[in-house]
Amino acid sequence: MPHMAQRVADFGTTIFSEINILAREHKAVNLGQGAPDFDGPAEALQAAVDAIHSQMNQYAPGLGNPKTKEAIAQHALRFYNLTYDPVTQIAITSGATEAMFAAILGLTDPGDEVIVFEPVYDSYVPDMVMAGVSPRYVSLRTPDWTFDPDELRSAFSSKTRAIIINTPHNPTGKVYSREELTQIAELCQQYDVIAITDEVYEHILYDGFYHTPIASLPGMAERTLTISSLGKTFSVTGWKIGWALGPRELVAGLNRAHQFITFAVASPLQAAAASALGMSSTYYEELQAMFQAKRDFMLTALRDTGFEVSAPQAGYFIMADWREVAPPEIENDAQFAQWLIKVGGVACIPPSAFYRESHKDMAKHLARFAVCKKDETLQAAVERLKLLPR
Ligand SMILES: Cc1ncc(COP(=O)(O)O)c(C=O)c1O
Repeated sequence: MPHMAQRVADFGTTIFSEINILAREHKAVNLGQGAPDFDGPAEALQAAVDAIHSQMNQYAPGLGNPKTKEAIAQHALRFYNLTYDPVTQIAITSGATEAMFAAILGLTDPGDEVIVFEPVYDSYVPDMVMAGVSPRYVSLRTPDWTFDPDELRSAFSSKTRAIIINTPHNPTGKVYSREELTQIAELCQQYDVIAITDEVYEHILYDGFYHTPIASLPGMAERTLTISSLGKTFSVTGWKIGWALGPRELVAGLNRAHQFITFAVASPLQAAAASALGMSSTYYEELQAMFQAKRDFMLTALRDTGFEVSAPQAGYFIMADWREVAPPEIENDAQFAQWLIKVGGVACIPPSAFYRESHKDMAKHLARFAVCKKDETLQAAVERLKLLPR
């Protein structure tokens, strides 16, 4: 009998697909998945069209188009004063998702441990399972999503190969502070561990919070692989252009895996990425202002409808406690998400998807709402939330 491999047998379908299907079925306003329902800047879109009409339609070099890698290096210098050699220290991947998978495959060995913070973005642990690596979890705790430094310390051991840091963080909207990153950096150096970061929300920051790449801390550039992508910063999540920057050995390890996963990623979209990354500061400022207005609108609306919400510091999402909103028979976040789609006509994500099986209760009373939507979509969702039975 044909059957699937053991290594993927427990993965199931991602919650995002499940919610999308249910949302479509019930014609719900979808604040589930973190994909904008609006287009990115016209300049970037035009650059992609131009590239397609300029015979840029064959395989790109495996590590990426040199001009795009130059633009990624310039971006790191411009925003974080970090210097990378575009030829040997940057790789272009199919989104941050592939960069993370290629990094785990290329930089860890079966039996190693990799530390992650929980709630954890849903692809990291399956990546580890496929690589034969074990996750070690450190909890981020409500209400402010901080971690216990002693718990962090005790997660490190001689088996630890890497720690994954997602800042700004999905789903909590946490921005790791310099103090927190310093604690992590000291342990990385003490235990000779590499940091692999996921910084895809680096430009979507609220209330004056600022993003610090751990690679910018003393002693960390030489042991950090920084991952980011175009999708969130330029509202083109479907392009799947991502990248990794780091010391030559780490990029080489990633590339050993990357060359046999995708080999190279979409040439014309890489060309457009170079144009996008080089856009003026006004673009980046307007992006922040646009998102700040969306987050503020949804924060107020969710509170007015009875949700208990603490303000996210960054990113696409708001986490909201639904206990004052739902009828008493609703027992957990998965039931709430289904109820909200069917009765309220609004889709959200149950955040227990970001927790291991034994810890799912930590997200039991929460819902994750995406704010990366047109104003009229957010408005339509709010109108429906106001009509929820009380
Ligand atoms: C934390 C995080 N990392 C990675 C991704 C995916 O990035 P990409 O589309 O570049 O693969 C997302 C998308 O939601 C995300 O939230």
